[in-house]
Amino acid sequence: MRPNMNAAKLRRLFLDFFKAHGHTEIKSASLIPENDPTCLFTTAGMHPLVPYLLGQKHPMGNRLTDVQKCLRTNDIDEVGDPFHMTFFEMLGNWSLGDYFKAEAIDMSFEFLTKELGFKADEIKVTCFAGDENAPRDQEAADLWMKHGIPEKNIYFLGKEDNWWGPAGQSGPCGPDTEMFVPVDKPDCGPDCGPTCGCGKWVEIWNNVFMQYNKTLEGKFIPLAHPNVDTGMGVERVTAFLEGFKSAYQTELFSGLFERLQQLSGNAEADYNNRSARVVVEHLRAATFLLADNVKPGNVDQAYVLRRLIRRAIREARKLGLTEAFTSQMADVVIEQYGEIYPELASHKDIIHDELDREEKQFAAALEKGTREFNKMIDRVPDFVVNKQISGKNAFNLYETYGFPIELTVEMAQERGFKVDMEGFKKAAEEHQKLSQAGAEQKFHGGLADHSEATAQLHTATHLLDQALRTILSEEVHQCGSNITAERLRFDFNWPEKMTPEQLKAVEDLVNQQIQRNLPVICEEMSIEDARKTNAIGIFENKYGERVKVYSIGDFSKEICGGPHANNTSELGHFKIVKEESSSRGIRRIKAILEK
Ligand code: SER
Repeated sequence: MRPNMNAAKLRRLFLDFFKAHGHTEIKSASLIPENDPTCLFTTAGMHPLVPYLLGQKHPMGNRLTDVQKCLRTNDIDEVGDPFHMTFFEMLGNWSLGDYFKAEAIDMSFEFLTKELGFKADEIKVTCFAGDENAPRDQEAADLWMKHGIPEKNIYFLGKEDNWWGPAGQSGPCGPDTEMFVPVDKPDCGPDCGPTCGCGKWVEIWNNVFMQYNKTLEGKFIPLAHPNVDTGMGVERVTAFLEGFKSAYQTELFSGLFERLQQLSGNAEADYNNRSARVVVEHLRAATFLLADNVKPGNVDQAYVLRRLIRRAIREARKLGLTEAFTSQMADVVIEQYGEIYPELASHKDIIHDELDREEKQFAAALEKGTREFNKMIDRVPDFVVNKQISGKNAFNLYETYGFPIELTVEMAQERGFKVDMEGFKKAAEEHQKLSQAGAEQKFHGGLADHSEATAQLHTATHLLDQALRTILSEEVHQCGSNITAERLRFDFNWPEKMTPEQLKAVEDLVNQQIQRNLPVICEEMSIEDARKTNAIGIFENKYGERVKVYSIGDFSKEICGGPHANNTSELGHFKIVKEESSSRGIRRIKAILEK
């Protein structure tokens, strides 16, 4: 145990040490990688530095140091045990083509012994044993021995242990040397060391000698200027230095546990409690993601965020917490980390809004969904051996009650059930096809037939839709449409009767567009891309992978199933024949095309 050590001091000690050794301190990058489409999250300190490790010049120099926020989701289901986390901080120092092995090991040794107070014979290290891609790293071992680390405390291991990277599918990587220190307990036997797994030896730091660029084809190309990348996990090392087994026992989490106990009135919601650990860990991670502009949703990072929040809420229920609580937990994170990560405080309102919204949505669904879930379980008699929730039922929990599939799997496991994942995927695909058809049907449904005349009136409807938005308000949108070969009928939200001037302006604007002979173009794209083009139309179709977007020149862009005229020149003269109320707040226009 190091007296008076804590995470704040460790960060300062590390950064100041490397600054004194010629490094520039840089700010943590976002949790969302900017330069790596192969990864959802920043998973290591080196990740945001990849372009520089590959040779690009860094504006802050060749020697850098920082504390980087990271997120790894591979062990998300393990979170709850005393060791795993999704979010963590990593201290690091980098040489971008500057110093290499000798100086890196000198500095690591100096920091471990002078700053953290370890003795040379208390440290064990591992080095790369060599394989077809790179030779045995005897050089690193010799450098450690030069500093007085006994030869018997140096282990040579293969790629699975002593090779790091790339962070994504390709990028810089190389052999590494890892440093281990002992916790206060007896050796498990004569072979007790970094590989025995008894828990006595804790990895405290990693030095990666980045000499290669791994290509997407799996080739290792030597880098012109080798780099050094080191990583020290703040949570793990703080726990070790404070004499704890688990980071959940350190002050990094104590404020969060305290708040959780206050909010739940449950004195047992501390680091010993599995549910409490999930709640504090997931809400810490969620708060950081929200500060990096991720919003809860159904794909990619947004989905991970949603899973974190929803799992935390569910575990909190087990502690007896039924009121909204997540933003109050987020406040502890904002307060505790605000100085190092100013984006937390500047996003405080967004963090609150998003957590409150997600919590409200999920809380309502959780009650109903759990009842539904219990019914599914209760329908299966006890004597059934392979108890399983069907894909259809799992999908229904997802679609109707917003249960992430992982949540259903976890709840099922608690009751001794499996989930038919194949069936779930199939049900999701079916639904996608149906809702796609549904979206298109709405438009087809509005069309009495597919004649040329109706196609032309359909195109006129898009022109009318946009003209109303231009003349009245951007808030106007379609509330209903019905088209025959003779006329169009269009319902839209507008609180009062349109004036004759407004009607004339809309009519004129549509006719101007018709006279411009604008081409009508159909493009297929993903719903995400459609959103980006600012097309108007229906977006709630969650599984609608691909949609059709119809553009009429530069005037209108709308998600739609068609059919349409090819060019506005086919339309003739547009004339509004009636404007009336359809229902409260909804107006109805009837119009014709005169040839
Ligand atoms: N990239 C290495 C790691 O993550 C060292 O920083 O351990």
